[in-house]
Amino acid sequence: MNIGNRQKVASCIEDIGTDINQLSQSFYRHLLQDNPELSRIFSGNTATLNRKFFNMLAALKNVKYLEKIEASIHQLGERHGRQYAVLSEHFMPTKKALMMALEEHLGDGFTTPLRQAWDDVFDEVADLMKKAVSQARHRDDDSLALTGYDGNLLQAIGGEEVVLRIHQRFYETIFEEPWLGKFFRGKHETTLARKQTEFMVAAFGGENHYRGDTPAFVHMHMLITLEQLEAREVILRNAIGEEGLSEEIVERWIKVDRGFWAGLVKASEGECVLKCFGQYPVVAKKPGDYIFPSIRPSKLPDD
Ligand code: HEM
Ligand code: HEM
Repeated sequence: MNIGNRQKVASCIEDIGTDINQLSQSFYRHLLQDNPELSRIFSGNTATLNRKFFNMLAALKNVKYLEKIEASIHQLGERHGRQYAVLSEHFMPTKKALMMALEEHLGDGFTTPLRQAWDDVFDEVADLMKKAVSQARHRDDDSLALTGYDGNLLQAIGGEEVVLRIHQRFYETIFEEPWLGKFFRGKHETTLARKQTEFMVAAFGGENHYRGDTPAFVHMHMLITLEQLEAREVILRNAIGEEGLSEEIVERWIKVDRGFWAGLVKASEGECVLKCFGQYPVVAKKPGDYIFPSIRPSKLPDD
């Protein structure tokens, strides 16, 4: 473990900032030129590929807390093996392409110490992930093949403004909700609606403007149960239905959303991962008189 190296990589990622899509394109050019067989795993249009690349860097940025987030990195490795069909031997060519892209992008700024830092940090994370990858068997059945992505959905929904409107409605309800609302105390409703919109727009095939952490990391310290995810889903369904979108679109949206559940759901408080000193697990106890939300029929556009 070398804290200095982790810090260097995290700051380097911060500095890349909005140039990340350029770096992403250079990464895929190197990766797919040298390993054309990986295009089966890294499929999709430029926006999709940029999102996947962004996710990888977002996870590497969290390496500052690697000892704290080991369990979460292990689960990330499991998802790579089981859902994305990644094998242990794919990590080396991925690192090589990343290093070439960084060299191309940073030029003289990619100094020997910085190169060494990236090399070490990638290996540190990859070694943890690989342990889980080699244990997980790729399963191609429907329930596990959900990858949180539907490349044509944004257009079918009617664009980003519609997604934002739905999220504003969704958060308005959830902030007031007697059970799930407990998670959101002290949070900023408008900011969350915007961030959730940026995140989902990328998952629906639009440009990726989301610059936060991946959902698995954002919710690491929250004890989120399957029942809570199901209650949230009803609220989300109602918020989408209210917009007058067809049942088919509601189902496609929900399918993308469920693609992220595996990284969030926990069975006990012990599975919560705390990133820093002073943080505590967020647990929302169900009120005794709680009434599970019910699905309202979708509102028709001319209602
Ligand atoms: C240190 C190395 C890596 C890190 C930190 C990393 C991180 C991530 C993260 C955070 C995600 C977002 C989805 C989730 O949380 O489950 C992701 C998605 C993905 N990763 Fe990786 N990854 C790494 C290496 C690899 C390698 C070696 C491959 C294959 C060659 C790969 C292929 C994918 C694919 C295909 C997805 C997209 C799933 C989708 O949204 O369709 N990753 N990665
Ligand atoms: C019952 C389930 C869930 C609960 C209780 C929950 C709760 C929260 C809370 C409290 C935050 C604010 C975090 C902070 O500012 O510190 C947040 C942020 C967020 N959540 Fe969730 N969430 C749930 C499910 C999901 C799902 C399924 C997704 C993905 C589809 C998701 C995506 C996000 C995103 C993208 C953010 C913004 C992160 C950022 O600040 O950059 N959440 N969530």
